[in-house]
Amino acid sequence: MGQTINAIVATETADGVRGELQQLDTTELPENDVLVDVAYSTVNYKDALAVSGKGKICRSLPMVCGIDLAGTVTESSAPAFAPGDQVLVNGWGLSEKHWGGYAQQQRLQPDWLVRVPGSLSLEQCMAIGTAGYTAMLCVHAIQDHGIGADAGPVVVTGATGGVGSIAVMLLSRLGYEVSAVSGKADAADFLTQLGAAEVLPRDELDRKARPLESERWAAAVDSVGSQTLATLLAQTAYGGCVAACGLAGGIDLPGTVMPFILRGVTLAGIDSVMAPADKRQRAWDALAELIDKDKLREVYTVEPLARVPELAGELLAGRVKGRIVIDVNA
Ligand SMILES: NC(=O)c1ccc[n+]([C@@H]2O[C@H](COP(=O)([O-])OP(=O)(O)OC[C@H]3O[C@@H](n4cnc5c(N)ncnc54)[C@H](OP(=O)(O)O)[C@@H]3O)[C@@H](O)[C@H]2O)c1
Repeated sequence: MGQTINAIVATETADGVRGELQQLDTTELPENDVLVDVAYSTVNYKDALAVSGKGKICRSLPMVCGIDLAGTVTESSAPAFAPGDQVLVNGWGLSEKHWGGYAQQQRLQPDWLVRVPGSLSLEQCMAIGTAGYTAMLCVHAIQDHGIGADAGPVVVTGATGGVGSIAVMLLSRLGYEVSAVSGKADAADFLTQLGAAEVLPRDELDRKARPLESERWAAAVDSVGSQTLATLLAQTAYGGCVAACGLAGGIDLPGTVMPFILRGVTLAGIDSVMAPADKRQRAWDALAELIDKDKLREVYTVEPLARVPELAGELLAGRVKGRIVIDVNA
């Protein structure tokens, strides 16, 4: 017998797949090379889909959910890591193919681990989480396209969400003029404090677009997809770049090729799950440098592990503003 630990485990129930609080024995953990004492995880959109069973995220059951985690190495047979190292993981199939972060301990492959940048705490890493790291990948796509802060306004959709709120913070910190798009009527103060220069209602973009509309944006970070993404493309200025990372509004893309062939607009696909290690380290190093820790503290709450199922429902109902950090030991 090992030690008993708490975890949110997805299993098949009478109501379909559900993630619920359970006790596991540490001998049940997978046979990976690095044992981590998990401190924090988060609730992302994908976690909410997995735990509620509303999306087919877990490819095998039982599955410890949680697509990311931050903690301290306690055992390692991999030379790259030693007890005491602070590490984080985003993606790599956690909660899909591999047991994830909603557990007090987890065994992980060394290739999945990123060293926590020295200036960030474990709590701050998960406040940033996969959402913030994805936001940074989007910002890097825009910068790598050569679009600097003087190029014109950059728009962020789903702006009060995890990806959106951190994208607003990062872009404004880098000097971009940020337009934030939100469906929440009371979002203006929150988004302005994060650095948005203007806040637009969701329905301004979430409508049928003409093939080309007035050139409005130098670049965009889109976590919504569907009609919103099609409208963004139609409004992006000549040579602009739209970083598309999400599907909160749907998976379709009901647009035309006109923005690509007449304005040279680039649609940059962003994937955080299988992103190579060098991209991840670059993103986390940039996050450590750019994140305003006082502003970050304003955009997250810390919740206990047992509340994950309830929080997943709230997130899917669109009632969550900002980020949720899960203290797996609370
Ligand atoms: N590509 C990747 O690797 C990657 C990584 C992380 C996340 N994602 C995806 O990115 C998206 C955002 O993730 P997240 O963690 O930021 O989720 P989140 O916290 O739930 O934020 C999504 C935001 O989108 C807006 N929204 C919700 N439903 C909408 C609808 N029907 N139509 C238009 N807007 C809607 C809401 O913002 P407002 O109320 O402010 O409009 C919501 O806060 C998700 O689709 C997620 O799966 C992808």
